[in-house]
Amino acid sequence: MKFYLDTANLASIKKYNAMGLVDGITTNPSLIVKEGADFEETIKAIAKEVYPHPVSAEVIATDYDGMIREGLTLAAIAENVTVKVPLTWDGIRACRTLSQQGHKVNVTLCFDSNQALLAAKAGATFISPFIGRLDDIGYDGMEVLEDIRTVYDNYPSLKTEILAASMRTPLHVKRASMIGADVATMPAALIKSLTRHPLTDAGLASFLADWKKTGQTIA
Ligand code: E4P
Repeated sequence: MKFYLDTANLASIKKYNAMGLVDGITTNPSLIVKEGADFEETIKAIAKEVYPHPVSAEVIATDYDGMIREGLTLAAIAENVTVKVPLTWDGIRACRTLSQQGHKVNVTLCFDSNQALLAAKAGATFISPFIGRLDDIGYDGMEVLEDIRTVYDNYPSLKTEILAASMRTPLHVKRASMIGADVATMPAALIKSLTRHPLTDAGLASFLADWKKTGQTIA
């Protein structure tokens, strides 16, 4: 499973990229606002930092013509920019057009496998089911992820990658990888938290305590 960072924070992207942990980046309007910088400049800098990995940049328009216009502007920022469009009727139309023109498209705000099927038929490069937001309202985000995996596997001609989004917990990561999501996009803190286990901490503490008794050092 590929790891994407779900952030527009360049410092954090640089840090994780240097560790070889970044296979791509996703952003959305809320993440861009958080950084308080110019949208296109931010995407340009991120795209350069992680090149050739993909960087999703989202359109703001909600109508087809506007999405195409903005999508082309975003795609022109860098070769590795993926245009992100919402899963609406106009978004699906825009996905079709942009994909046919050879642009990569990430269809976002997906909450159901029928939506994912439609996006794949429209040529989406990625479909982004939002796991955490489904859990937030009492649905089972992982069940939707599983449904999408099943549907896509039923029809091998569909080439869309499943990009599990709105990931909040290590359990989301574990289950997404077992279900076979192609990609999981995560905040940096979630990636870091994957190292944590109480038995690792306890084991390390006891090894260090024992080592101290030797009075030795490793040069
Ligand atoms: C994905 O592309 C979205 O940016 C993101 O995963 C949304 O996550 P949230 O529900 O935590 O805002």
